[in-house]
Amino acid sequence: MAAGEQPGTGSPPQPSTRLFLLVLAVILTDQVLAASAQGMSIGINYGQIADNLPSPTRVSGLLRSMQISKVKLYDADQNVLSAFLDTGVEFVVGIGNENVSAMVDPAAAQAWVQQHVRPYLPSARITCITVGNEVFKGNDTALKANLLPAMQSVYNAVVALGLQGQVNVTTAHSLDIMGSSYPPSAGAFRPDAVPYIQPLLNFLSMAGSPFLINCYPYFAYKADPGSVPLEYVLFQPNAGVTDPNTKLNYDNMLYAQIDSVYAAMQALGHTDVDVKISETGWPSRGDPDEAGATPEYAGIYIGNLLRRIEMKQGTPLRPSSPIDVYVFALFNENLKPGPASERNYGLFYPDGTPVYDVGLRGYLPPMDESKSARKAVSVLALIAIASITLILS
Ligand SMILES: *[C@@H]1O[C@H](CO)[C@@H](O)[C@H](O)[C@H]1NC(C)=O
Ligand SMILES: *[C@@H]1O[C@H](CO)[C@@H](O)[C@H](O)[C@H]1NC(C)=O
Ligand SMILES: *[C@@H]1O[C@H](CO)[C@@H](O)[C@H](O)[C@H]1NC(C)=O
Repeated sequence: MAAGEQPGTGSPPQPSTRLFLLVLAVILTDQVLAASAQGMSIGINYGQIADNLPSPTRVSGLLRSMQISKVKLYDADQNVLSAFLDTGVEFVVGIGNENVSAMVDPAAAQAWVQQHVRPYLPSARITCITVGNEVFKGNDTALKANLLPAMQSVYNAVVALGLQGQVNVTTAHSLDIMGSSYPPSAGAFRPDAVPYIQPLLNFLSMAGSPFLINCYPYFAYKADPGSVPLEYVLFQPNAGVTDPNTKLNYDNMLYAQIDSVYAAMQALGHTDVDVKISETGWPSRGDPDEAGATPEYAGIYIGNLLRRIEMKQGTPLRPSSPIDVYVFALFNENLKPGPASERNYGLFYPDGTPVYDVGLRGYLPPMDESKSARKAVSVLALIAIASITLILS
């Protein structure tokens, strides 16, 4: 849909009618943008490891123009949340790994929720708190041991404020918590992670919260471009692979990875926890040894993924549960360490121009004053209308 498109009219309207329509359009634009933000259930990660990103106010305009309805943050940046009040956009907010251990203390967890979540509800729709990100990827055993107690304290704080059911509490995992993921039905967590994951699953089940996982079929392709078929990782037509145990056919790697997580959870006695994709993406640029990191492949991956999301498709194992995905990421982030690909996952350059075309129409407002300027215009127009009305009467 296009908020700016004018429906055709037979005869040119009278000047005063035109002015009235203009005012109406100006006033309605904000409402239309807010309403359309609920249109599509595509989530996006708004990472900010960069020194050249536009202000949250402008980003709010960009995301709303794209009809992005769900945003995931890695913190609970108050400047971001404030820029999205009353927009209808849903937020996942995060507690960084460096702050996880402190949250074991119930008072600290309560203070964090009081300060970072409570004040924004219900104007900013915070629906989930992630406590830590990819904690089991590292070697910090104290952090691993503190993760679940921290999640429990944050959950208790949420309950104490009467927000359970409204705000989920979980954590996001890296796919390398999997010891085996092929075939999907044989999915299993890494043996060293199981002692942590088992009680964590019990918690998620009790709290009614989802299991979040960051999945990058790109990593599999980059590691072995000679034998991983590009069509299979890019959601392009291909024969797929059939799981010999379930006879289910997989035409893309992402769905196989999701179902391997369901199998791993089932092996630990849980069929009652949803799997959601907290990150997936494809870099548009990389180092010379990073196969496949091109704008063309990134555009195909994201474009095809968006189509699957729009179709509300489920995985072969859960065909009636639409995949729930947060794309990584909104912007290229110039300060991310690691290989060049790490700084090139964005759908947009920091100046708001798209890195590749996936049919998402986006518009980065030119300056921070755009909102107040628009308000000023509508006030002026209202004064003009009032004057005209007075003159005519
Ligand atoms: C999180 O950790 C950082 C670095 O240790 C610290 O400066 C900050 O105050 C902590 N934030 C919270 C909310 O505890
Ligand atoms: C964790 O430790 C193992 C063994 O000491 C090492 O091989 C691995 O690279 C380490 N991983 C990280 C993320 O530091
Ligand atoms: C919390 O997670 C559950 C399980 O995935 C989901 O059904 C529910 O909608 C989530 N709640 C919110 C407020 O997003």
